[in-house]
Amino acid sequence: MGNDKQTLQVTADGKLKHLLTLEGLDKSFVSGLLDHATTYLRHAGTLPARDFGLQGRTVANLFFEPSTRTRASFELAAKRMSADVLNLDVNSSSRAKGESLLDTIHTLQAMQVDVFVVRDAGDGIPEFIARSVQPHVSVLNAGEAAVSHPTQGLLDMLTIRQHKNRLDGLKVTIIGDIGHSRVASSLYHGLHLMGDNEIRLVAPPGMQPDMGRFPGATLYEDADEAVSGADVLVALRIQRERIDDPSGIPSEDEYMVRYGLNAERVALAADDAIVMHPGPMNRGTEITGDVADGPQSVITQQVTNGLAVRMAVLSAAMESR
Ligand code: NCD
Repeated sequence: MGNDKQTLQVTADGKLKHLLTLEGLDKSFVSGLLDHATTYLRHAGTLPARDFGLQGRTVANLFFEPSTRTRASFELAAKRMSADVLNLDVNSSSRAKGESLLDTIHTLQAMQVDVFVVRDAGDGIPEFIARSVQPHVSVLNAGEAAVSHPTQGLLDMLTIRQHKNRLDGLKVTIIGDIGHSRVASSLYHGLHLMGDNEIRLVAPPGMQPDMGRFPGATLYEDADEAVSGADVLVALRIQRERIDDPSGIPSEDEYMVRYGLNAERVALAADDAIVMHPGPMNRGTEITGDVADGPQSVITQQVTNGLAVRMAVLSAAMESR
């Protein structure tokens, strides 16, 4: 990543203006962000955490790609930070009528939006918006093409840290459609930043990544080998919407046998290994129901952590004003 992008997302005095990528962020800043996120966690059944940090501010959620959990999580995070929240309905947005993205952004900016949360299928869109907004406005990347998904990376790191008490010296195996996954990229960026971790990648033909995106990681052919002794297992969804030619990819049954997380495969990992999935899950394809709901699964905890992380990111962005 160029220094340019880093200068754009972090102010001269180290504050987070925009969150475009985890690459290049300061390690102690990221640790502090995760610490801050934990202050927003509450026990189930009690009232959720509230903060008045964004009172009077406006957050616009612009999701130009489908999303359930990330969108709901950003909306609730902004509301629990006391912001006014605008969710743009993509199908009825002016962009669907041919208005340019920048015109949409400038229109909303004229209504005094302070934070844009953006998901888009286009590579470079969050950065492009960040370069065009007024200096007091922040842009948070909620999923950029197959490039990055920084708040997902943060929530994954927080979940791992809660269980392993560290983000260093871990064996982390990511299995599945890594080639089309922004989740894998951001988790890799985060783990790479935080310590010396052994990152193992295993992907079927047609879903293998360009390893230039994952310096120092190892690509495995065999899932059992990649899982053996691992501390953390991450299953990914097959991102069919990004696969132009599905003819080379395995059938769902073959995928489960060769790459799916089932109980036998999980048993090859460390005894205290955790099982993660960013959702949405396709049970029976990349993960079995018993593993997804089993004692090693931390999948619902990832969702809980996502909200806390997004509250902390919104708070950080406000501090950069
Ligand atoms: C992921 C995404 O959109 O990149 N989902 C999410 O944000 N939790 C993964 C996916 O869609 O498979």
